[in-house]
Amino acid sequence: MPGDKSVSHRALMLAGVAVGETKIDGLLEGEDVLATAAALRALGVEVERTGPGRWQVHGRGIGGLAEPEDVLDMGNSGTAARLLLGLLATHPLTATLTGDASLRSRPMRRVSEPLSRFGAAFHGRAGGRLPLTVVGTRSPVPVRYELPVASAQVKSAVLLAGLNTPGETVVVEPSPTRDHTERMLRHFGACVQQEDGGAVRLTGEPELTASAISVPGDISSAAFPLAAAAIVPGSRVAVTGVGLNPGRIGLLHTLREMGAALAVANERVEGGEPVGDVTMAWSPLTAVDVPPERVPSMIDEFPILAVVAAFAEGTTRMSGLAELRVKESDRLGAMAAGLEACGVSVRESADTLEVTGGRPQGGVEIASRLDHRIAMAFMVLGMGAREAVRIDDIAPVATSFPGFVGLMNRLGAAVEA
Ligand code: S3P
Repeated sequence: MPGDKSVSHRALMLAGVAVGETKIDGLLEGEDVLATAAALRALGVEVERTGPGRWQVHGRGIGGLAEPEDVLDMGNSGTAARLLLGLLATHPLTATLTGDASLRSRPMRRVSEPLSRFGAAFHGRAGGRLPLTVVGTRSPVPVRYELPVASAQVKSAVLLAGLNTPGETVVVEPSPTRDHTERMLRHFGACVQQEDGGAVRLTGEPELTASAISVPGDISSAAFPLAAAAIVPGSRVAVTGVGLNPGRIGLLHTLREMGAALAVANERVEGGEPVGDVTMAWSPLTAVDVPPERVPSMIDEFPILAVVAAFAEGTTRMSGLAELRVKESDRLGAMAAGLEACGVSVRESADTLEVTGGRPQGGVEIASRLDHRIAMAFMVLGMGAREAVRIDDIAPVATSFPGFVGLMNRLGAAVEA
């Protein structure tokens, strides 16, 4: 599997503000992560590719980023944009971030609001969206921030701003989200404590020491071939060395409840992250209710779960999905419209989705809406549907899963690009 996207962004950014040379292995070389690498270079960090997935970063130390000469283009990546705004908020420099049409439509107030409390200023257009200029503060004050939504990106932006801030920065989460930032900060030597009641406490101005990082395979990418195996009779697929962070494996719990023939083996910890191998074979699936408290641990997996639900017996009910409306696309709307076009019975509300399974007809063209996961989800649907599915634009797949089409074809799919 390609390297984990969340871990790859964090590896480059933390290496960029550590002291010394960090060697990264297994970095995702998708467009999103390449945007982070390019932005760090523009901020004065030496970032070098030494081989496939092998990268070397010469960090500038905390507070050492330089003012960029030009606008930073974060492409399609919300994680890159939001985490970088966090780092920049407590550097005394001015930077302007932009992105593609998808990223320019996504909410940024969720980070600019807490980051302003450190003393940074933000100037942007109406709605607080990109392009956005951050004027970082020279004398940051530490912040205690209660997150209004469960978001690892917002939590991480605040923690990264806390690095160049004296005193303690505290983020309180309404429910747990992926903790890759906390784990990697500890890996680099920072003091990050997880407290009861959802508080994460970072001691500011740590010395981050360069340290080797091995990036696990991306479970959110593995979800697509695993789901294909679950819906195409006779299939069996194994993925090795994928990340199994507890904040990322809600889909595996859900698929198990649906009756999927899924096995996890070789569980181990690598570089502070849990990793293992996952095998999936086809078996009959039944519908389930996905509890809202599970949403953060499978936030990126609802497009592919909705596809799997379209092949299960009964009606799968998913709730607490409001955040899906502000991802790379409105994923709730995109899935409901696309499934319906494929002949699947669907009900959609502001934050719920109900999908009644059977065997989808397919035979239509789906708009991928600049969203890699919408494109991949409907390619997987096409593998099990009665008629082929056409996707209008699969270019966005390169943001997170370069080589997806070739890999699926090697597994026996018939994808023509
Ligand atoms: C991510 C967190 C999630 C997820 C995104 C990556 C991260 O977003 O959807 O793809 O790397 O922190 P939110 O935390 O905003 O829900």
